[in-house]
Amino acid sequence: MTIRSCQHSLYVKQMFDRSSCTYTYLLVDPKTHEGAIIDAVEEQLDRDLKYIGELGIELLYIIETHIHADHVSSAGLLRQLTGAKIVYSHYAEVKSIDIEVKDGDVLPLGQYNIRAIRTPGHTNGCMSYYVDGMVFTGDTLLIRGCGRTDFQQGDPKNLYNSITKKLFSLADETVIYPGHDYNGNTWSTIAEEKKWNPRVGLQKSQDDFLQIMRHLNLDLPAKINEAVPANEGCGTNFKPNVHISDNFSMSELYKVWQQENPDTLIIDNRTIEEFVAGHIPHSLNIPFGTELQHLEELKGFKHIYIYCHSGRRAQVALINLTKKGVENIKCVSHSGLPEWIAMDYPIEATR
Ligand SMILES: [Fe+2]
Repeated sequence: MTIRSCQHSLYVKQMFDRSSCTYTYLLVDPKTHEGAIIDAVEEQLDRDLKYIGELGIELLYIIETHIHADHVSSAGLLRQLTGAKIVYSHYAEVKSIDIEVKDGDVLPLGQYNIRAIRTPGHTNGCMSYYVDGMVFTGDTLLIRGCGRTDFQQGDPKNLYNSITKKLFSLADETVIYPGHDYNGNTWSTIAEEKKWNPRVGLQKSQDDFLQIMRHLNLDLPAKINEAVPANEGCGTNFKPNVHISDNFSMSELYKVWQQENPDTLIIDNRTIEEFVAGHIPHSLNIPFGTELQHLEELKGFKHIYIYCHSGRRAQVALINLTKKGVENIKCVSHSGLPEWIAMDYPIEATR
């Protein structure tokens, strides 16, 4: 795993799935903690939830670069567990997605904009995503390679144009984060690939490229018959081994709060700054991402309730705590403090 971070940059965590050689990326605005995940893999769901929790990410987007043929995506499950929205290309023809993007569309993420760049060729629905000097290329452009074009409406002419006309028109210093690597490489730049990519760099012509792509003679991905149909439905054909909370409402939490039971703990899962500005009286502030530091303390309560602003952080915190053996915990998963305030329930501010 590698992490790109500096104080004023978008924080990027690159994670690797060994069985499919897939890279998954977590993107986080360090100021707002809003985040996105790109190309999440089913088998790595627990890993991804753990990092989302530890990094305190309020996940807004589950982005897929294309319909993968070599692994099943965890997009549907992540949506169920975090409330984030699934993003696919308009041209990918995937069922039950939340946001369809076309070339040039923008996804706001805190102080950043993620820009979709349509890059068909490996599949017709391939989309690359540019943000803050980085481009996430999926299987369109790999390090010293590119995606294959022999199934899923693959088209080598389209791929050549996507790489040479669209991706290579980005600034030379743009960092490339690919969807896969089979040789241990982690990232590259547009300048490097323009010069050294043996398929499309070194001023290779379209005819040179077509010759190379026609003679690859690759075996089909082992999981193609399972992965493609599953991913056409957001990869939801999978039963989670993690706890999914029933929706516990703010009005139910108010009834619990009124009982003032000493065996009951109400956790405010928001940041310290949000908590200080106003919170449910007698609730305990355990900011999102720090829950696991309080395991022993939490095990002393018979009933635990957790809330945040929208329910997204609390839901992930609940999953991570449940997996560590914290029982009798419920979360307000579809709303948060604004609903409590709207209902005119008591609020306490800390000076
Ligand atoms: Fe692919």
